[in-house]
Amino acid sequence: MRFRTLGSSDLEVSEISLGSWLTYAGGIEADQTRACTDAAFEAGINFFDTANVYGRGAAEAAWGEILSSRPRDSYILATKVWGQMSDDPADRGLSAAQIAKQVDASLARLQTDYIDLYQAHRFDPDVPLEETIEALQAVVTAGTARYLGFSEWTVEQIQAALDIAGPDLFVSSQPQYSMLWQAPEAELFALCEANDISHVVWSPLAQGLLTGKYRPGQPFPAGSRFTNETMSASMEIVMSDENLEAVERLRPVAADAGLSLPELALAWVLRRDELASAIIGASRPEQVHANVAASGIQLSPDVLSAVDEALGDVPVTGPTLAKFATAGVSRRS
Ligand SMILES: NC(=O)c1ccc[n+]([C@@H]2O[C@H](COP(=O)([O-])OP(=O)(O)OC[C@H]3O[C@@H](n4cnc5c(N)ncnc54)[C@H](OP(=O)(O)O)[C@@H]3O)[C@@H](O)[C@H]2O)c1
Repeated sequence: MRFRTLGSSDLEVSEISLGSWLTYAGGIEADQTRACTDAAFEAGINFFDTANVYGRGAAEAAWGEILSSRPRDSYILATKVWGQMSDDPADRGLSAAQIAKQVDASLARLQTDYIDLYQAHRFDPDVPLEETIEALQAVVTAGTARYLGFSEWTVEQIQAALDIAGPDLFVSSQPQYSMLWQAPEAELFALCEANDISHVVWSPLAQGLLTGKYRPGQPFPAGSRFTNETMSASMEIVMSDENLEAVERLRPVAADAGLSLPELALAWVLRRDELASAIIGASRPEQVHANVAASGIQLSPDVLSAVDEALGDVPVTGPTLAKFATAGVSRRS
């Protein structure tokens, strides 16, 4: 496993990290969660990403149980704040009160007294940005979080935050990024590079599509993410005939390069120095082991061209970005 420095921090994170969305929040059983987490440690993964909202605390609690039996300095723990945490419509967002309440709740569930990377899961346009920044900085000052990051903020929102607090405010950005979702390349990568902010990218395998296990015109394989009703709401992000056909065209590219499809897909995102880590999901330990093999693979210019050709004009950026980012910035008057 190779490691990369996370932005301007002193954190050295594994190139492949493990996330807990849709898997460790009730999607799979507790023993599988433990097996995948143990496999991650065996494979050299030291970076774990969760969020308060995954299963409304269930994913953090699952990892709290498992990770707390290991030395705290053997893993780097990232979580997030913003999502709807209860049926109370006010129990969400990035107000000072909500951040203060949620960080304490996350620490309790994670059974730790500090979070390495505390991320604003989305932007909250209903709260003055100054209030959000001060509340996040207060968490760092209190020592309960070491560093701050954001996920799916627009470049305007990021720039507004940096204008208020300076370039050291954030060390990381968490965008969706894969062969099938290249939107961050347009503007986000350059802005973050200029401010020493690294990316830790989500769904680098397009939720499993880029492993090649979903075939055009065939039923989804038994037990896969898209067969589970509670998970299939996420399907519309990536599942389309166009994407399935593109993966079929990638199949010989991977074979010619002597790689599996997951290796090709993960090495493809990791080719960018702007990334510190690709956050994979895994429902089985074998998937963790298969995916970590991508660390250290260098793709030749010929392979990269063949990937571009195979993707063809499949839409890899576009209006679905609106699903992730909330436009607008609210400022104190
Ligand atoms: N910031 C955000 O807004 C945001 C949003 C989404 C995710 N995330 C983070 O990113 C992490 C990763 O997202 P993701 O789970 O969508 O990542 P992903 O790596 O694109 O997809 C993971 C899923 O693909 C399948 N899979 C993985 N490796 C495989 C292999 N070698 N062979 C066959 N199937 C394989 C597994 O699903 P099945 O076995 O169940 O089919 C696995 O759970 C999340 O856990 C979370 O931490 C963040």
